[in-house]
Amino acid sequence: MSSTIILLPGDGIGPEVVGAAARVLNAVMAAAGRAITLQTYPIGGAALRTGLPALPPDTLAACRAADAVLLGAVGTPEFDHLPSSERPEGGLLALRRGLGVYANLRPARLWPGFEDSGPLKADIARGADLLIVRELTGGLYFGEPRGLDREGGVAFNTMRYTVHEIERIARVAFDAAQRRRRLVTSVDKANVLETSQLWRSVVTRVGADYPDVALQHMYVDACAMALITSPARFDVVLTENLFGDILSDEAAVISGSIGLLPSASLGDGPGLYEPVHGSAPDIVGQDRANPVGAIASASLLLRHSLGATTEADAIDRAIEAALRAGCRTADLAGPRSALGCGAMTDAILAALA
Ligand code: IPM
Ligand code: MN
Repeated sequence: MSSTIILLPGDGIGPEVVGAAARVLNAVMAAAGRAITLQTYPIGGAALRTGLPALPPDTLAACRAADAVLLGAVGTPEFDHLPSSERPEGGLLALRRGLGVYANLRPARLWPGFEDSGPLKADIARGADLLIVRELTGGLYFGEPRGLDREGGVAFNTMRYTVHEIERIARVAFDAAQRRRRLVTSVDKANVLETSQLWRSVVTRVGADYPDVALQHMYVDACAMALITSPARFDVVLTENLFGDILSDEAAVISGSIGLLPSASLGDGPGLYEPVHGSAPDIVGQDRANPVGAIASASLLLRHSLGATTEADAIDRAIEAALRAGCRTADLAGPRSALGCGAMTDAILAALA
């Protein structure tokens, strides 16, 4: 039986990195003798440009019917003037909602050998290996009422959480911590926000079901500082949608480059996998994108949605081998000579073989 994976290349460097990940998926599954079917659909600016909405109904229907979805990036400056519901980003938000993927997992760790590559001092970055568990379908991103009244000179959004939404994301974080170093840091702003006060009490109650996992609470401002000054103290970081958006970009500097980082968004149906980086309009079409974030997302897809653990391990080892061998895209190479997106993918494919 063949597994169906929907590819949503999207905007900017999305098509380049999804193309790279598709090559790796095809190679690893062919070697394992497992059939997969890859189908490509439009989303974001790529859909808007052909007169379709940012999330075309056919795209959502195909994703719902598939085993998993791999997305590149959405967002392109030509649509920046549109109201938020009509922008390319609206397509991604509607897809997350439409698939009900409420749990966004964003691992960030310092890759061995990259101690001196990133902006952090080696002594600070060493040992950093954390997982951000970001609530993805609630909070300020989706809360009603919301509005922008330009004539009246006022705009508003609503941060809203239910006990159910907090409970289910907290369980994802505690379950993940049981497979890691057994520490959950729940991040909120409970000194100011009522949503955070509810968040803190629900997380504490869920935590009681996990006596083997330590729980600490931290305010988001303090966490933003600690992520940069002592990243190695974190294991699982559990937080709401907007805080998680901000902290996951910040955590990306730990790894040396945001281009390396994958993510998985999980709910009760098909999972959605995407690199953490954006569409990077400044380097489109120059063969300069780092494909590792997308390829590592393909590995998460195999692991979480297809149960193909052996194949996922093989991809992770191949990425690590290529990086260890000194292969670097422009975001990592600095002044040294860099590989293009295609050549970096070739190196990972060679390490797979
Ligand atoms: C992310 C992105 C998205 C978000 C945008 C593109 C809507 O920044 O996945 O982190 O804010 O969630
Ligand atoms: Mn973001």
